[in-house]
Amino acid sequence: MNARKVIIDCDPGIDDVLALMLALRSPEMEVLGVTTVCGNVPAAQGGENALKTLEFLKRLDVPVYLGEARPLRRAYVDATDTHGADGLGESFLPNVEKVRPKEGAVDFLAETLKREKQVSIIALGPLTNIARLIECHPEALYSLDELISMGGSYKSHGNCSPVAEYNYWCDPDAAKAVYEAFDRHPALREKQVHMVGLDVTREILLTPNLVEYMCCLSREIGAFIRKITRFYFDFHWKQEGVIGCVINDPLAVAYFIDRSLCDGIDAYTQVETEGNSFGQTLADPYGIWKKEKNSHILTKTDPMKFMEFFITRVFGVPASQVRPILRQIMVENAGKLVWAQKEASLFDEGEGGAEE
Ligand code: RIB
Ligand code: CA
Repeated sequence: MNARKVIIDCDPGIDDVLALMLALRSPEMEVLGVTTVCGNVPAAQGGENALKTLEFLKRLDVPVYLGEARPLRRAYVDATDTHGADGLGESFLPNVEKVRPKEGAVDFLAETLKREKQVSIIALGPLTNIARLIECHPEALYSLDELISMGGSYKSHGNCSPVAEYNYWCDPDAAKAVYEAFDRHPALREKQVHMVGLDVTREILLTPNLVEYMCCLSREIGAFIRKITRFYFDFHWKQEGVIGCVINDPLAVAYFIDRSLCDGIDAYTQVETEGNSFGQTLADPYGIWKKEKNSHILTKTDPMKFMEFFITRVFGVPASQVRPILRQIMVENAGKLVWAQKEASLFDEGEGGAEE
């Protein structure tokens, strides 16, 4: 099998880290480099966090390049309230000293595309680097294979405003420029942005039970994941009353490898940049505006199939071992209420039942 060449553009970021773990443990992908962009944390901090992740994975051979320090036009707003002051759930892991991030992410993207030909980009943060690549190196776009972007929202609600998802809310002008390029640029007109939006990523909930299972599979990897997600769990409980945390970015990597994980629709999509709805993705799947369909929007996914995909690769255990446990854990979460009711009904059937 020929591994597909990929650059991961990200803003690590707790879920970005989980996505990097999945990518670097998947033989279907050859990760040529990691570029960071201002998003969850400043690009420089993202570079440190990417290196910490690569060191943990013993993959410091993968180069890290720092990208744009601020959005194209808007003031930069980070997401340290969600990911912690250090971007890794305030785990405050030590910086990697033996390897340092390099400057020039956009040049790295352009040079690598032109040298390697047919390279895909998986964008897990705001699209600022990608917009700069299009603006400054349009010739490189002829070597772009696919763009997978975690961002946007089709029919789900936003997470930064009622309608906008953080990556496109943080830099709506960049997102607009990228989607427009897939509508107009001769190198991209026949391609689509694969939009891995909140409609599908909200389905991917990492729960305490799943983290406990991961710790059973590997104390070292499980402990790392537990350490960086604790803060994220607390945020989700306070913000959304959820026990667990939505891990958006790994689904973009999983989908790149296995398209059967998600269903989707083709649509012309534009991104709002003004007014209260800035950052909103406006999709026209029915062709009302008679525009070419510049995006493939993911609309459905299978959380259990994803979690099996993630765990088998990151922990190196066979699906036959993982599947029954996931059925117990993931059904148990939903089924717990049923089991409790079942227990109550058991009493009802025997002598003296629980009071109605
Ligand atoms: O809205 C979720 C996205 O914004 C994720 O990629 C998260 O890491 C942040 O970048
Ligand atoms: Ca991200």
